[in-house]
Amino acid sequence: MTSATSVETVSRPPAVSMQEHINCVVDELLASFPDPAQLSVEQRHGIIARYTAVLEGNFIYWMTGAYLAIKSDEARAIIIDNLLEEVRDCHPGMLRRFALAAQSVPTDKDALAVYEDLSKVRLFVGRLSGVRIVIMMAFFEGFIQRFMAYLAKLAELQGSVEMEYTDVHGVCDIAHTQGLFRALAVEMELDLVDPAENLFEGVDLLRTLIQTIVHPVPVTRSATV
Ligand SMILES: [Fe+2]
Repeated sequence: MTSATSVETVSRPPAVSMQEHINCVVDELLASFPDPAQLSVEQRHGIIARYTAVLEGNFIYWMTGAYLAIKSDEARAIIIDNLLEEVRDCHPGMLRRFALAAQSVPTDKDALAVYEDLSKVRLFVGRLSGVRIVIMMAFFEGFIQRFMAYLAKLAELQGSVEMEYTDVHGVCDIAHTQGLFRALAVEMELDLVDPAENLFEGVDLLRTLIQTIVHPVPVTRSATV
């Protein structure tokens, strides 16, 4: 699929213009989301459950992929700080409590709804292309930070008052995003990416996955998750 993000890879934009572009992608995503107050209980449940199904078991894996793929000590130090916070403060547990309190724990149906798009992101990370994974994770951190108010509103409308996950990520991911763009600039200086590669492939795949979280397509096939 050709996308607006793919086009920009031709001229190898510097990290700063990549950040501007990624901010635009986040803006467009958020603007496409439905008003939480207009959603049914089932729809709100679904968004929280699918988000949890994706983040709970994959975020640390993806960030670990970034760590394994990058080459510079400076970028590695930034990623280690991020991973330390994730593990030390048990962010997967924080997210599970958030989903539980909003009565939106993922089911097999939620896992199946994101399975195909999630698999594509997993396989992309498995190719261990450092710069491209860091671009994807910088986009993801930037998205998460700005998505937290929306996610918190969904939970609130579900009757929850458990907001530690959204409170923490609405703040800490600002620094995480800035750190990842610093890591990106350092890694790009090493210029280890094939110019023919789409630098935004991970962003494109992850954007599609996020769209599926919020606007799921009906799943009619049988699949093993
Ligand atoms: Fe986290």
